[in-house]
Amino acid sequence: MEVFYNHLADWWPVISPVSNYTGECAEICRVLKARRPHARTLLELGSGGGHVAFHLKADFDCTLTDLSPAMLEVSRRLNPGCLHIQGDMRTLDLDRHFDIVLAHDAIAYMTSEADLRAAFATAHRHLAPGGLALFVPDEVLETFELGDSDLSLFGGETPDGRSARAMEWCGELAADGTTTVHYAFLLKDADGQVTTAGETHHVGVFARADWERWLEAEGFAVETVEEQTDEDRTPRFLFLGTRKEA
Ligand SMILES: C[S@@+](CC[C@H](N)C(=O)[O-])C[C@H]1O[C@@H](n2cnc3c(N)ncnc32)[C@H](O)[C@@H]1O
Repeated sequence: MEVFYNHLADWWPVISPVSNYTGECAEICRVLKARRPHARTLLELGSGGGHVAFHLKADFDCTLTDLSPAMLEVSRRLNPGCLHIQGDMRTLDLDRHFDIVLAHDAIAYMTSEADLRAAFATAHRHLAPGGLALFVPDEVLETFELGDSDLSLFGGETPDGRSARAMEWCGELAADGTTTVHYAFLLKDADGQVTTAGETHHVGVFARADWERWLEAEGFAVETVEEQTDEDRTPRFLFLGTRKEA
């Protein structure tokens, strides 16, 4: 992750434009507001460049946390009114409660049951009983096996004249529920100079039943919702967990 989320952090708004998140975040907001109309404070785990938060911050007071200081810096520029804190979603402890804890695509970096359950435990300790956690993995085992394609192309432009094209090439699923994702980037700066970069990431893909079982085991009452989307991709599962008493 050293390349994508550190050396290339400044390219995040170009590689994955904030406007791409509008529809998905409207759905996340709808799902959250339907269940917690009065919720105000939201903690995001693995908030990256703050593109999800950008679309939620009108509805929630967002506290944004990520492993990467460079990604947090990018997010600070986009979301100057949000509190930013560096931390690992498996161990973070801010010693306060929020109305909602959210982990979006960054949850893919939990590559084992122990990691995923540690992230669930982090959400749990940042919620009072009745508080709501929402996890939105890009894939679960069932959608991964549908295999829309192992290849996706994306990218964008920013007003400062930079543009980027990226390729994401997903490998086979290993027996331990992990897979590799190979990234290749073409990055054109404002002067038209193109550089290339690449990196391989290791991510976790777990079955829906495992998500639900491990959330229950970490003290949540679970509700799984299929995302409503008109985007050209398989809808995601939204895993909602209400923190049980004690
Ligand atoms: C795809 S980016 C997230 C982008 C984000 N959804 C946004 O709206 O801009 C994935 C992020 O996960 C973060 N990450 C990976 N492992 C993490 C961990 N253990 N704890 C916290 N953040 C982590 C990376 O630093 C990276 O910023």
